[in-house]
Amino acid sequence: MNPDLKHLFPYPFEKLNALKVGITPPDSLAHIALSIGEPKHPAPDFIFKEINAQLSGLEKYPLTKGLLPLREAITKWLTQRFKLKTAALDAQTNILPVNGTREALFAFAQAVINRDKQAVVIMPNPFYQIYEGAAILAGAEPYYLNTTAENNFSPDLNSVPETILKRCQLLYLCNPGNPTGAVMSLEYLKQAIKLAQQYDFIIAADECYSEIYFDENNPPVGLLQAASEMGLVDFKNCVVFHSLSKRSNVPGLRSGFVAGDADIMADFLKYRTYHGCALPHQHQYASIKAWQDEQHVINNRAEYTEKFTQVIRTLSPFIDVSLPDAAFYLWLKVPEDDTVFARNLYAQQNVTVLPGQFLSRETASGNPGCNYVRLALVAPLDECIEAANRIKNYLQTL
Ligand SMILES: Cc1ncc(COP(=O)(O)O)c(C=O)c1O
Repeated sequence: MNPDLKHLFPYPFEKLNALKVGITPPDSLAHIALSIGEPKHPAPDFIFKEINAQLSGLEKYPLTKGLLPLREAITKWLTQRFKLKTAALDAQTNILPVNGTREALFAFAQAVINRDKQAVVIMPNPFYQIYEGAAILAGAEPYYLNTTAENNFSPDLNSVPETILKRCQLLYLCNPGNPTGAVMSLEYLKQAIKLAQQYDFIIAADECYSEIYFDENNPPVGLLQAASEMGLVDFKNCVVFHSLSKRSNVPGLRSGFVAGDADIMADFLKYRTYHGCALPHQHQYASIKAWQDEQHVINNRAEYTEKFTQVIRTLSPFIDVSLPDAAFYLWLKVPEDDTVFARNLYAQQNVTVLPGQFLSRETASGNPGCNYVRLALVAPLDECIEAANRIKNYLQTL
């Protein structure tokens, strides 16, 4: 077996299941799960219709590179959304459809890491667990950068020692952040790009939550936008990951894309040709429609805004809570150990939340997930309000 498999950590949900063993929550309260970040709003009808209309696509092998009309739709969307210069992106060389960002974030590290060179992969802490697993299985050493209230939940790149920067081959950024909901500034992203150029590492910006935000006039900025503003027409060392899972409520469609530096994308395509992970034709056609329509995304955001407003209104007299910049999580600092909080909340109120320390690692400056819990506000409005009331009841017992 691959010896690196032994270095993988248990997934947070395994730890959560273990934490709940032996507890019987009250029968009178239906279970509410705020632990899993799976979108639950209905998917738009036009996606179902298009899949049905294109089912004959099952009779053909799809190409790894994807259909040109899909890459063109993505190019147009990216250009408009992130205010890129027209024709800066080429649908032939800068874009690859993927089966959701999860597999792509993982595969990317396998393709780009040179394991003969004591590779380091820098990532935020807490973090989406795939970054770490991808680094470990690519033969690299993960280097964790704590995201805390003190640094506005943006990893402090200036704190990284030069010895690590010299070994760094890949930096994962999560913008907007899971679990914190923090959005990076253009200035921050430009600094990151300068560092990537200086030490010649790649930035993989996971932007899969970029379309879930609360101020229609202030969408999160992105890495390609920062590169474009810097005049980096070739997007050198910059790659972004986007998904329809959250934007269009289709996590089961497994549709996203990777875009950026054409040289890197060419090698990634080569890797993926062998990996064998082309997106089925009918999913590609449905994805074209999804990237071409903004109204369903605006409606989606309105639903999240309503939920966040109501939940925050219920909780704020009892705990310090405010609207995040973006994404659909509340990253809540709780008045006791996060695992104790999650366990007792489940035992008393039948609400499951995810302890922050399950998403983060211990570092020299502590574990930044301790005393935090993550609440995914994905359930319908009524259920989220009911959960907030039960959390309020639990907080009042402390
Ligand atoms: C930060 C982050 N990145 C990537 C993903 C993967 O999403 P998908 O594979 O559905 O695009 C998730 C899913 O929850 C996530 O939270």
